[in-house]
Amino acid sequence: MTMNDKTKSAPSAAVSPMEATEHEKIDQYLKQLHADYDAVYNMLLNYECAVMEVETKFNILNNRLSIQGEHNPIETIKSRVKSIDSIIRKMEKRNLPIELESVENNLKDVAGVRVVCSFIDDIYRIEKCFLEQEDVTLFERKDYIQNPKPNGYRSLHLIVKTPIYTENGKKDMFVEVQMRTIAMDFWASLEHKLRYKKNLNPQTAQELAEELTACAEESARLDEKMLRIRERIARD
Ligand code: GTP
Ligand code: MG
Repeated sequence: MTMNDKTKSAPSAAVSPMEATEHEKIDQYLKQLHADYDAVYNMLLNYECAVMEVETKFNILNNRLSIQGEHNPIETIKSRVKSIDSIIRKMEKRNLPIELESVENNLKDVAGVRVVCSFIDDIYRIEKCFLEQEDVTLFERKDYIQNPKPNGYRSLHLIVKTPIYTENGKKDMFVEVQMRTIAMDFWASLEHKLRYKKNLNPQTAQELAEELTACAEESARLDEKMLRIRERIARD
């Protein structure tokens, strides 16, 4: 039940929620969840639809804002639905009951959409337009751009509720949206590599973490400088 990451050009509906998982593994997950195949499939499909709805909202905003302004505010949109094994792992880690209902009630990041912009001001402009939409309800907002994590991580995180329309009616779904600049995204993917690197000498790991934190500061200054340059180009 692995869902591959997709960029905005990939047709989301073509991916089956179960296709990449071997039968024995699926059986094990179903047992753990006390659920049948259709129920799990349907749940993942619902999250897939929520991702599609939210992606479409951002694509529309990107088109409209680029017609009004002089550039495309969004560089890329990357989406994913959490795989069923990481869903189960996360619930075990949090000591949550391993049941489908518990997934929907407790995990707010099963559907994830990452919006990558060139400039910091585009992030807030798009956020505003997105949250003003009637069918988008803000549940949680964490601004790690204004308040970076101690390691230097920067991004704007939103958890929203938005409806999907199924053959059985309307259903509200949680979607996690991460908004960041190209530079922040570049940094986060390198930091992610360090975080998940096994068997790294602790001293080396510490040194690299410190270097990465310094990189994040430098990169944030570069983001600011480039924004100023773009503003001057627009003005003159
Ligand atoms: P989770 O259990 O991960 O959902 O933690 P949380 O609910 O406290 O959310 P948080 O806002 O800290 O982070 C959610 C997601 O943001 C993560 O799953 C990552 O995708 C991303 N993220 C947060 N912190 C970092 C970081 O330090 N480095 C990188 N590379 N990504 C991060
Ligand atoms: Mg989270």
